[in-house]
Amino acid sequence: MLRPREAVRTLPVYHPPLAGRKGLRLDFNENTAGCSSRVLEKLRSLDAEHLAKYPEREPVEAVVADFLRVDASELLLTNGVDEAIHLLCETYLQPGDEALIVVPTYSMYRIDVMAADAQLISVPVSGGFRFSAESVIAAISTRTRFIAIANPNNPTGTVASGDQLLQIARSAPEAAVLVDEAYFEFYGETMLKEWRLSSNIFVARTFSKAYGLAGLRLGVLAGDREQMRAVRRVSSPYNVNAIALACLPEALADQAYISRYVDEVLQTRARLESALEANGIQFWPSRANFVLAKVGSSKPDAARFVEEMRRRGILVRDRSSDYACEGCVRITCGPREHGDRLLAALSEVCKEPGIVQGALR
Ligand SMILES: Cc1ncc(COP(=O)(O)O)c(C=O)c1O
Repeated sequence: MLRPREAVRTLPVYHPPLAGRKGLRLDFNENTAGCSSRVLEKLRSLDAEHLAKYPEREPVEAVVADFLRVDASELLLTNGVDEAIHLLCETYLQPGDEALIVVPTYSMYRIDVMAADAQLISVPVSGGFRFSAESVIAAISTRTRFIAIANPNNPTGTVASGDQLLQIARSAPEAAVLVDEAYFEFYGETMLKEWRLSSNIFVARTFSKAYGLAGLRLGVLAGDREQMRAVRRVSSPYNVNAIALACLPEALADQAYISRYVDEVLQTRARLESALEANGIQFWPSRANFVLAKVGSSKPDAARFVEEMRRRGILVRDRSSDYACEGCVRITCGPREHGDRLLAALSEVCKEPGIVQGALR
């Protein structure tokens, strides 16, 4: 009988709770307002010829390289950061190798590492979700071949400094070190080009968050040119579809849209953090477009809060099952009007007896 590989048979299933998302989408850290109108215009202009042809990635890679001020040989466009993670695991991990992540963090690192039949080493984050380079370095062994760090991290919104990341990369010269900058636009600091200081560093960016293109599936992986040559070998030449490739230059060209959107999100984030504080709810100051808040002490507490918000038309994400996140929910921040709706619902829910509990009150 045909049987999948052992590593696949034992793989945990990742089921993002997407079904029937009705309401204001503050549950997946997406852009809640939609992409630049220039992208929509481009979409409307595409014809049958465009769809009939295999997609050509290189010309658009040249545009992205120009935008990021790197050489085109130093980057690869991917089907979202998710594919970049997958490609790195395919390129660098063999069965029995070790891969490090700092938990809690983005779920797909674990899935791709396990699918590659490598050994996952989860380094627990320190108190207050502070990033500790020392803990990561202490977990590095002679078998470490992959280290994935989201910066800012999801779901905590906390960050590692450039010095810490460089120190880690230099401590594991035989490991591919992924700095996942999916939330870069909300943070502003980058490790792009730091592979000139340590050639094992890779930086990933996405167009799923600030750019509002999660449905198109577009990401970028950048790194040392020799390393990227290897990564490109395992990638399909048609990994990014023609529609996404046609839209990407338009999305990049409208930086005014991105700055406006990011500005509003940062204002909403500040308003949300103030409201949480005023209501005595513990939260972790975030550098991304979301905030992790502890609304209770258990999974049922978080589930009740999520349900009360949903009844008021606001979707937020229960993160209770993540390491050290009991009773926590993650709330995405959108532009001003979405911030208003979020804060109105939050204020109502906080007045309901017994919904928000155990936190700072
Ligand atoms: C840290 C991090 N990396 C990657 C992704 C996925 O990005 P993409 O949509 O480009 O695959 C997410 C999405 O939530 C994320 O939080």
